[in-house]
Amino acid sequence: MKVLVIYDTFFGNTEQVARAIGEAFDAATSCEVLRITQVKPEQLAEVDLLIAGSPTRAFRATDAMRKYLKDLSAGALKGVKVAAFDTRADVEEVNSRLLTGMVKLFGYAAEPIAEQLKKKGGEVVTPAEGFFIQASEGPLKEGELERAAAWAVEIQQLATGDRHPA
Ligand SMILES: Cc1cc2nc3c(=O)[nH]c(=O)nc-3n(C[C@H](O)[C@H](O)[C@H](O)COP(=O)(O)O)c2cc1C
Repeated sequence: MKVLVIYDTFFGNTEQVARAIGEAFDAATSCEVLRITQVKPEQLAEVDLLIAGSPTRAFRATDAMRKYLKDLSAGALKGVKVAAFDTRADVEEVNSRLLTGMVKLFGYAAEPIAEQLKKKGGEVVTPAEGFFIQASEGPLKEGELERAAAWAVEIQQLATGDRHPA
């Protein structure tokens, strides 16, 4: 199986999550982890599983991630299994009713990324996932890199048919 993990980042937290995901695939998997600005269209060729992640910025993915996904041709991800993730603040901890309300209304980056991947022909294998940071510039909350690795293992099982969706 050929896996490509693409990510964007400002402070490095989403990159850490992307690398933890990439490292969790077994030796039978060829996995590349690339920053969105380094991905060339030909690198999508023969990819079986594409995982895309972005920091949540103003309730959505970064400009570079959104542009990359938007510019993919229709059907570019036909036959490709896909999954999306983001990094995000924990609204419970920010303790702002206004922010909680806005998050409820506008959400996070991962779900719209998954929608775009699907729109371009991808088959979403698992619900979009968010990984929590302690503060805007990081670090990630304790245990999040381990959770990201476990998420990747689950995706690998779903993508290879070793496990069926709950
Ligand atoms: C300008 C700005 C806007 C942000 N907007 C949101 C937001 O809407 N929702 C959220 O959960 N976190 C928000 N955050 C926190 C980011 O999600 C956090 O900085 C990011 O996960 C860090 O990832 P990175 O190190 O890969 O850049 C924002 C941070 C900044 C600096």
